[in-house]
Amino acid sequence: MATYDLVVIGTGPGGYVCAVRASQLGMKVAVVEKNATLGGTCLNVGCMPSKALLHASEMFEEAGHSFAKMGVSVSSPKLDLPAMMNFKQQGIDGNVKGVEFLMKKNKVDVLKGTGKILGTGKVEVSADGKSQTIETKNIVIATGSDIARLKGIEIDEKRIVSSTGALSLDKVPGKLLIVGAGVIGLELGSVWKRLGAEVVVVEFLDRILPGMDGEIAKQFQRILEKQGFAFKLGAKVTAVDTSGKTLKATIEPAAGGAAETLEADVVLVCIGRVPYTDALGLKEAGVALDPRGRVQIDPHFATSVKGVYAIGDVVAGPMLAHKAEDEGVAVAEIIAGQAGHVNYDVIPGVVYTTPEVSSVGKTEEELKQAGVAYTVGKFPFTANGRSKVNQTTDGFVKILADAKTDRVLGVHIIGREAGEMIHEACVLMEFGGSAEDLARTCHAHPTRSEAVKEAALAVGKRAIHM
Ligand code: FAD
Ligand code: NAI
Repeated sequence: MATYDLVVIGTGPGGYVCAVRASQLGMKVAVVEKNATLGGTCLNVGCMPSKALLHASEMFEEAGHSFAKMGVSVSSPKLDLPAMMNFKQQGIDGNVKGVEFLMKKNKVDVLKGTGKILGTGKVEVSADGKSQTIETKNIVIATGSDIARLKGIEIDEKRIVSSTGALSLDKVPGKLLIVGAGVIGLELGSVWKRLGAEVVVVEFLDRILPGMDGEIAKQFQRILEKQGFAFKLGAKVTAVDTSGKTLKATIEPAAGGAAETLEADVVLVCIGRVPYTDALGLKEAGVALDPRGRVQIDPHFATSVKGVYAIGDVVAGPMLAHKAEDEGVAVAEIIAGQAGHVNYDVIPGVVYTTPEVSSVGKTEEELKQAGVAYTVGKFPFTANGRSKVNQTTDGFVKILADAKTDRVLGVHIIGREAGEMIHEACVLMEFGGSAEDLARTCHAHPTRSEAVKEAALAVGKRAIHM
């Protein structure tokens, strides 16, 4: 008799959510975690600490630059970086404890150690030189991802850092050189820019935020440049000389050509993440990987070994916490004999900068490439009453709808609180709604969300306030 119905390896948002849902469905569940704390990348060195620093640094920036114009007179704010890091740590601790509580509440056993799959129904858990073998009917791999590294550039997490080091710098770097204009580069670049660093971002492609709608990315780049960001697009960092007091980075045009040298106090390498499968024993157990090193799964999250499933960053798809969570729920339901499902067409993405950028569904580039006839409705926050009175008018809402059916295919927003506003579009799209449906939905006044309604009206060329 197996001891457990389900053993989940990894307690990030994919793993712990899967464990909770499986327990709700009546399964006897254990999670295996090799880190000292639960919660994975997201809670410990990802989403949550970065959002704590984004919030604190935004308050610092606002106190220094926005309070006065509203008639709030304060003396110039002083940065207490250790206190800000303590604020971040309190947030991490609170969330990690929350996951521990959820495991207890749902009677999920927490097995501390490194999990290795010995084959169908068997997981070895090793810690402090000791190991035990656990028997289980089902196994879910939820081991997440790790930073991608640049060949020849060694990350020491002090001067050459990944996102992990960039979340814990002990002083504000004079010059911060960021490799990669993706989500991490722009979020953590914003944190350190607001706290006083000079920020230069080197990006291989000729645009920032690849994958996001091109028009939104262009406007976002202009706004970031106004905030003081410098971008070197179509360029790559090929070496970093660490011998002197300041780092010297060699930058080459991506298309080839003469190299230049840039000096920096800290270099942040954020060129993507790779699936993490170390020590899992996948090869010996016969679990197949795809050509990019991700655990290969069928549409029901099943791997090539019976009774072994995989979810989250370790499998294909966007590396996002909410995608991992939804897959965790779906796989638990499938194991329980239900019809668990994730709609990959409606997974929102948010960049938590100021302003925020949010997106769901297809971009204009994707629709063009697929030859889909579409109509566009746009509405700027400069014409939104609430944004005007708050004097936060950067950005716009863009809605892409099918030209024939009016069904909404994509929504892209750049603006304050864009990350909250995107969800009405997600609900609409889950129900296969049209721009007309959105345009006829009453929106509270005065809210920024009225700009979403106006963009939907603009699809039918009848926006009111523009
Ligand atoms: P993870 O969270 O990576 O968890 C995997 C867990 O498995 C880890 O705890 C690890 O220790 C454990 N593990 C691995 N191997 C073993 C083993 N053999 N035995 C036992 N345990 C093992 N996403 C968002 O949606 N929003 C954001 O704002 C956001 N911000 C981010 C900011 C940063 C700086 C970073 C780096 C990432 C961010 N992400 C964000 C991405 C998000 O963190 C990941 O998509 C998410 O954590 C993936 O969840 P997961 O459960 O698949 O894996
Ligand atoms: P990313 O994939 O978002 O961006 C990496 C960038 O680096 C790309 O623009 C790419 O073209 C560029 N690049 C790659 N190689 C390069 C090179 N040699 N030189 C210069 N540029 C190069 O990856 P990032 O920012 O590291 O984030 C990893 C993942 O974490 C993201 O895919 C995202 O899913 C997740 N994340 C999500 C957040 C959110 O949802 N708000 C926040 C932070 C991370």
